[in-house]
Amino acid sequence: MASICVSIFILMAATLCAGYPAGGPYYSCKGLLPGHGDGPKKTAPPYRMSVSQATVESGGSTSVTLSSIDVPFMGFMCAASKYEDEANNTVGEFSRTDDYVNITQLVNCSGSTPYTGITHVSRNPKNTVVFNWSVPDSASSGSVFKIRCTFVQSFNVYWIDSLVNVTVDNKISSNENSSSVQTSTLRNLIACLLTVFYCFL
Ligand SMILES: *[C@@H]1O[C@H](CO)[C@@H](O)[C@H](O)[C@H]1NC(C)=O
Ligand SMILES: *[C@@H]1O[C@H](CO)[C@@H](O)[C@H](O)[C@H]1NC(C)=O
Ligand SMILES: *[C@@H]1O[C@H](CO)[C@@H](O)[C@H](O)[C@H]1NC(C)=O
Ligand SMILES: *[C@@H]1O[C@H](CO)[C@@H](O)[C@H](O)[C@H]1NC(C)=O
Ligand SMILES: *[C@@H]1O[C@H](CO)[C@@H](O)[C@H](O)[C@H]1NC(C)=O
Ligand SMILES: *[C@@H]1O[C@H](CO)[C@@H](O)[C@H](O)[C@H]1NC(C)=O
Repeated sequence: MASICVSIFILMAATLCAGYPAGGPYYSCKGLLPGHGDGPKKTAPPYRMSVSQATVESGGSTSVTLSSIDVPFMGFMCAASKYEDEANNTVGEFSRTDDYVNITQLVNCSGSTPYTGITHVSRNPKNTVVFNWSVPDSASSGSVFKIRCTFVQSFNVYWIDSLVNVTVDNKISSNENSSSVQTSTLRNLIACLLTVFYCFL
């Protein structure tokens, strides 16, 4: 009898606590470590990260693409820091792109300016996600930023060390009037979307 109860409990717990179905919580921006499973995989992830522009001027933005090689990912979370900052203090600003507005949400990472993280909305399998990241206005020429992402394939299977660099060069368009970064008014909807599931196991 007791074993039946235990089985039912485990089944319920597994259903309720399968990671963060509604996106990574704000307090995991620095480590990007999902609070579940057996720990990160050390193998090469079956996922890729790329940026449309590896060199951007301060305040400028680059488009970031996450893609699967063969197996889709259920979850992801990304944050950006100065390359040399081992504490991974989060900087810059993510924004969503129109085609992915319904499957991504911005995160206000703890201890930094708003929108310094981005994560999934649901566990639906994903093969591609595209969003933008803009460099801080104050970034000086030559500084390097790392955009880091965690990919979650399943409760127990995830990789935390994907990284892509963005280098600041303020001479790129010194002769042009570069357009200012457009920030989406839709991001005000994020507060409504952000629901964090706590797992007590
Ligand atoms: C910062 O990011 C690096 C690279 O992903 C990671 O190895 C390290 O554990 C992170 N540091 C902290 C304090 O989370
Ligand atoms: C995203 O960044 C790209 C490259 O800088 C830019 O062309 C595009 O307009 C940006 N999109 C949004 C929605 O901010
Ligand atoms: C996002 O959701 C809204 C409301 O359901 C819908 O009108 C819109 O077409 C969706 N956008 C995309 C890119 O799927
Ligand atoms: C990122 O930039 C740092 C510092 O310039 C460099 O050491 C590192 O190899 C770069 N990493 C990648 C993945 O480009
Ligand atoms: C930049 O904008 C200013 C003011 O709008 C204008 O006077 C100037 O000619 C522009 N420069 C270029 C290179 O377009
Ligand atoms: C994130 O910060 C912005 C600006 O301060 C705020 O409007 C928004 O409600 C915050 N979002 C969440 C989910 O706390």
